[in-house]
Amino acid sequence: MLVCKGLTKRYGKNPNALESIDFSIPSKGIFALIGRNGAGKTTLARILATELIPSSGSASIDGMDVVADATRLREQIAILPQEARAIPWLTSKQSIVSYLLYRGFSLGESEERAQSALARLDLQDYENKLTRILSGGLKRKVLVATILAADSRIVFVDEPTTGLDPISRADLWKVLEELKKEHFVFLTTHYLEEAEKLADVIGILDSGKLLGLGSLAELRKQAGYQYSIRTQQEDVKTKEGIAIRGLDGSVQILTTEEEAGRLAEKLVKDKARFSINPTSLEDIFYYLVKKPIEEENYEEE
Ligand SMILES: Nc1ncnc2c1ncn2[C@@H]1O[C@H](COP(=O)(O)OP(=O)(O)OP(=O)(O)O)[C@@H](O)[C@H]1O
Ligand SMILES: [Mg+2]
Repeated sequence: MLVCKGLTKRYGKNPNALESIDFSIPSKGIFALIGRNGAGKTTLARILATELIPSSGSASIDGMDVVADATRLREQIAILPQEARAIPWLTSKQSIVSYLLYRGFSLGESEERAQSALARLDLQDYENKLTRILSGGLKRKVLVATILAADSRIVFVDEPTTGLDPISRADLWKVLEELKKEHFVFLTTHYLEEAEKLADVIGILDSGKLLGLGSLAELRKQAGYQYSIRTQQEDVKTKEGIAIRGLDGSVQILTTEEEAGRLAEKLVKDKARFSINPTSLEDIFYYLVKKPIEEENYEEE
């Protein structure tokens, strides 16, 4: 289990970067943490990865406290930091091998592991190229290969797919899906479809507070709105949900299953064009994070 109790972090005199975070989730599969810039994702990841000491509260993974048992815990952790850069004067393979040697693997095993990790990410052609001549996305992939090669049980990847082209991103998704079978992956991302596709549990962080936690279905329940209807029809009104007006004049209604059914029936009767879908993670994210600004109740107008 990953357990956080009243976890708070304050940098100097700034407002809290994390404010009394409480949650516990199984330490298996993929946990995806989403939230705007500055929400506190990296701060939380770094505390759990034993890189940063919390100001108050506590956290543990598999019963090991992130402060008291940091040394023991660290042996099981591999981290891909958000700001990580490949070492420019080493080749891709050397860069991975040096990390593995540092982690205590023998030279032979390090080389074997490096080669197989590079192959898994389709990087064989770059094995002997200096990382400084690789494109930004490829540099990032080499770092992911490094984490992969270490084969640690707990893996922290802070925005691993930022800057990757769509095909490389999809490749990496496959790797993460493989990885999650035997590892616990703590992932942060700005790509909501990535969290939706990969994560077993999703956390939504905003201004250092955890606004939502659970599977997509559980988050739908927490938000209270299971369905999203989009239509150009002007006079569609909601009692149980919220209506958001799009820039193109269309209306999106997030609402309960019951009301969605009633509204859909009415729209069919009116021969109006509309689409109806289960609420996406993006809908839930905007609703939870931007609630006070976006909410608009047509009934009260
Ligand atoms: N070393 C630091 N010193 C002072 N303040 C910091 C430091 N690191 C982060 N912060 C502040 O803590 C808050 C949370 O930052 P954090 O990097 O955890 O956010 P994030 O969710 O990872 O953002 P992003 O999506 O941009 O990576 C921000 O207000 C940030 O300015
Ligand atoms: Mg960050």
